[in-house]
Amino acid sequence: MDTLDVELGPRRYPIHIGAGLLRQAALYGEATQRPLRLITDEHVAAHYLPVVRETLRLGDTQVLVLPAGEATKTLASVERVMDWLLATRLPRDGWLVALGGGVVGDLAGFCASIYQRGVDFIQIPTTLLAQVDSSVGGKTGVNHPRGKNMIGAFHQPRLVLADTDTLKTLPPRELGAGLAEVIKYGMLGDAAFLGWLEENLDALRRLDEAALRYAIRRSCEMKAAIVAQDERESLAGGAGPRALLNLGHTFAHAIETYTHYTAWLHGEAVATGLCMAADLSARLGWISTDEARRCEQLIARAGLPVRPPAGMRADDFRALMSLDKKVASGKLRLILLRRLGEAVVSADFDAAALDATLAHYSA
Ligand code: NAD
Ligand code: GLY
Repeated sequence: MDTLDVELGPRRYPIHIGAGLLRQAALYGEATQRPLRLITDEHVAAHYLPVVRETLRLGDTQVLVLPAGEATKTLASVERVMDWLLATRLPRDGWLVALGGGVVGDLAGFCASIYQRGVDFIQIPTTLLAQVDSSVGGKTGVNHPRGKNMIGAFHQPRLVLADTDTLKTLPPRELGAGLAEVIKYGMLGDAAFLGWLEENLDALRRLDEAALRYAIRRSCEMKAAIVAQDERESLAGGAGPRALLNLGHTFAHAIETYTHYTAWLHGEAVATGLCMAADLSARLGWISTDEARRCEQLIARAGLPVRPPAGMRADDFRALMSLDKKVASGKLRLILLRRLGEAVVSADFDAAALDATLAHYSA
């Protein structure tokens, strides 16, 4: 097992990564001494609820199983959770346990942030995306019909328990979506890790435990370091270190909006967005075309899309990207690669280069 800490002073917390962790009561820390309520979804419950229940000695009334999927990340679910917590009288010193992917983690974390003005919670992420991204860093929240993740709070967990065994039941497309975020970390912050991914992608896809543990650890180390510097994405008017985690995401959000958040998984849209960010960086002369091609080849080998959906035109990208949160004073800010393994936030790029990238990807 590997453990690393997210260094946030008094709110510092550990991330444990490895196989067979769910049944090790000692890893749940103080949670074993607290009144607990666990939130999960129906898919995850079928596989992992029995072992977590047994380890934490949870009774029936302490568990809430919600429908799986993004449609659960709503204010209506928050109300349902609040009703359940009040009906079962979770005291203020009680903790919530989030067992599941990013949907359960974001929802349970947000509920923990508001129940009786805030209780503690722990994250037990069961998707690769949640293990390398959403369970770490304290962003919690739900969607609103007018926008994704529009209602939320920063609320850090007390610990994260990433059991790599849980990935064995993950549908292959969901594993791919997580791999896109792992590749993102290499591109934005560590060219050597990108090289390691090129060597070890096949091992990751066949769920080799040591390879998964290393990839999750390296991803979490990078995210933890960024979160420790810029916990609330508030530095430099939102263009500071934490914004770098959004490499590829401006293009991805345009694709997700264009496809109405249904046809593509977020990680799949990020995969194509990473290709587009690398292509634009190469057109600006910041990375070489060979380096951009390397990124695209790795993403394709992970079984991820490297082109936008058929029919999506440059004008669709332009219209949808201008709605992006990263537009400051009317100017589009993009996360680009100054070098392979070094992302920057830039509003100062040649508009003709962006036009060329959009034309290339909508041809
Ligand atoms: P998800 O939680 O919907 O899980 C994907 C699917 O896999 C679901 O059907 C789920 O039931 C199933 N599942 C989960 N674990 C499983 C397992 N071990 N075996 C079998 N099936 C399993 O999706 P996700 O990709 O984990 O998370 C996406 C969400 O995360 C989005 O809402 C996104 O906004 C959010 N997110 C948040 C942050 C953050 O910083 N808070 C970062 C990235 C993404
Ligand atoms: N997923 C981006 C962030 O946590 O900031």
